[in-house]
Amino acid sequence: MRVVVGITGGIAAYKAVGVVRTFVLAGHEVHVVPTTAALRFVGRPTLEAISRNPVESDLYDGVAEVRHVALGQRADLIVIAPATANSLAKLAAGLADDLLGTTVLASSAPLVVAPAMHTEMWANAATQANVRVLEQRGTVVVGPVSGQLTGQDSGAGRMAEPADIVAAALDAAVAANPDLDRAVPPPPPDDSLAGKRVVVSAGGTREPLDPVRFLGNSSTGRQGVALAEAARDRGADVVLIAANLEVAVPTGVQVVAVTSAEGLLDAARREAGTADLIVMAAAVADYRPAVTAPLKLKKADLGERMTVELVRNPDVLATLAAERPRAGQVVVGFAAETEPDREALLRLGRQKVAAKGADFLVVNEVGFDRGFGAGDTAVIVLDAAGRIVAEAGGDKPSVAAAILDAIAPR
Ligand code: CTP
Repeated sequence: MRVVVGITGGIAAYKAVGVVRTFVLAGHEVHVVPTTAALRFVGRPTLEAISRNPVESDLYDGVAEVRHVALGQRADLIVIAPATANSLAKLAAGLADDLLGTTVLASSAPLVVAPAMHTEMWANAATQANVRVLEQRGTVVVGPVSGQLTGQDSGAGRMAEPADIVAAALDAAVAANPDLDRAVPPPPPDDSLAGKRVVVSAGGTREPLDPVRFLGNSSTGRQGVALAEAARDRGADVVLIAANLEVAVPTGVQVVAVTSAEGLLDAARREAGTADLIVMAAAVADYRPAVTAPLKLKKADLGERMTVELVRNPDVLATLAAERPRAGQVVVGFAAETEPDREALLRLGRQKVAAKGADFLVVNEVGFDRGFGAGDTAVIVLDAAGRIVAEAGGDKPSVAAAILDAIAPR
């Protein structure tokens, strides 16, 4: 919640730092408004450092944005600690001759005060009358407590402990507005994909020759599935376009099963409309049989040789990268290459990322015995300009995490 902490000019002002810090550590946004007198007891730099916000005390600071009205209206809670006898009198009278006074008057948020003064001043009939007026208006008064005062003496008048003031203040805020949280969870880490819609394609397409035969490839879908799981674990809403996976589909993601490149294109285009991030990890056949026989092909009809004519498949990645139905959408491709020389591999990757129009390309070297299946893998992530933004090796889940780390900031 948004908390205004007012500090008035008494020796207990130094303890107000503890009040501010307790609110900040619980995740609340704190704006400190000290009176001029309070700044004689505690310095502005301390308050700015602890509250992580600029500190103003003068009514004539930020006049253009009508600071007191802005602070007062935006506040969910106003706490004045310490509240001196003078400030209680001013609050009771509704005086508004400084930024704190005007902020309080401009706000409908719960007001909590923590008086601190000498015992006689606290016991004085004028102070007691002011406190009663404030309480009748709904102000929550925390303390003072009895104990050692500034001088040699002790008695009632000591400011309550910061933790007690904050607890009472949060109670008052939540009682007034049950939608507020006593503790605000820390903001999600930078790598969070919470609220994002992520579409991942995985597996390898199959291009049918006849009802029982197809042209396929060695992709198992492990890397794509690991990416879908990693995105899910970072809070994304994940759609997995699954092309003939050899591994189990993960839980907690929406699965769209496809078979061929054309089926994958249709599904990907449908899902792209709402996607923030598209990762094309599937191995898509570049060609398909020009005709799919409606019935099983027979040796008796084909004889000793069989010729299959292939036609080019659409390029799903390039199509998605060109269409981008959603502003800010990030499109990531994969490139499995058999080139063993690193520089030549990077050259191929740079050409491919440019040709496809993708924002990132994950390049990995594959071979007959490498890259597919359960084993370790090694990838280089290039951005659209062909710069290396990450290199990672290991099992597929760790590589998936490294890939998301590299692209999540986008
Ligand atoms: N891809 C695609 N549609 C195709 C072929 C590939 O969407 N018809 C995607 C893959 O999913 C991958 C990227 O393009 O993300 C690169 O795939 P790759 O097979 O390495 O590239 P090709 O375009 O097929 O290039 P090459 O000529 O090297 O095979």
